[in-house]
Amino acid sequence: MSAALRPGPGVTATRAVAIGHTPLRLHLGWTAMTLLALAVAGYGAALVLAPAARNGFIRALLEASWLPALLHFGGGSIALVAGAVQAHRGLRLRRPALHRWLGRVYLLAVLASGGAGLVLATRSSAGPIAQWGFGCLAVAWLATTLVGWRHARAGRYAGHRDWMIRSYALTLAAVTLRLLLPLSQVAGIPFMTAYVAIAWLCWLPNLLLAEWFLRTRPRGPVRATAAMEPAPR
Ligand code: HEM
Repeated sequence: MSAALRPGPGVTATRAVAIGHTPLRLHLGWTAMTLLALAVAGYGAALVLAPAARNGFIRALLEASWLPALLHFGGGSIALVAGAVQAHRGLRLRRPALHRWLGRVYLLAVLASGGAGLVLATRSSAGPIAQWGFGCLAVAWLATTLVGWRHARAGRYAGHRDWMIRSYALTLAAVTLRLLLPLSQVAGIPFMTAYVAIAWLCWLPNLLLAEWFLRTRPRGPVRATAAMEPAPR
């Protein structure tokens, strides 16, 4: 048994079993997801911190709505990174204090970025179908995150985890969008047609994937250990 899995201070036997049983496919999935999230978070942070990184579209967006745009890019980048750390099962089980602290950071980042995203959605130059697509995404992002947070406050950890998985699946819409856009251009689809469709396709499949994951993931020890963690305050 590795040192990380051995029961010791802060790591009970049940927790160690749960960590030890994390399937390889979950480790690989988390690693791939985190690398993609870091790439998009780096892009969003560069837009906030380095004016030279801004193209014409971003400059126009900032001229029209500088505060919502900066809150959106900055908060979205923080949510992508914080959510990836939160999704790491071993860290969650071994470092509950870090989990609670980062949970608050994630909540504030989503509130800032999601609220600002809703404002940007109403102003999108891509027309009403895209505005509704981004708008519904923003509302779903805020709602799933708030429901997940309420579950944690009430000590309902299974519900908390399920809703936060839905919330982070929606955070990852930022990644899906930036995978689908270049793919649509390689496929020769006119930019505006692709953009309008992707305003919906960047998040609806993510939600379906999250529901599939929630129904097929391994359970048992995960439920036992989650209930042991103290309520976030
Ligand atoms: C999940 C909820 C999200 C919603 C509802 C949302 C909504 C939007 C909207 C409406 C725009 C403007 C598009 C236009 O004017 O046509 C936009 C652009 C942008 N968003 Fe988001 N977004 C979300 C998540 C994120 C996240 C997590 C990031 C992380 C970095 C992010 C980063 C950006 C960036 C960098 C742009 C500028 C356009 C680009 O470079 O692609 N968004 N978003």
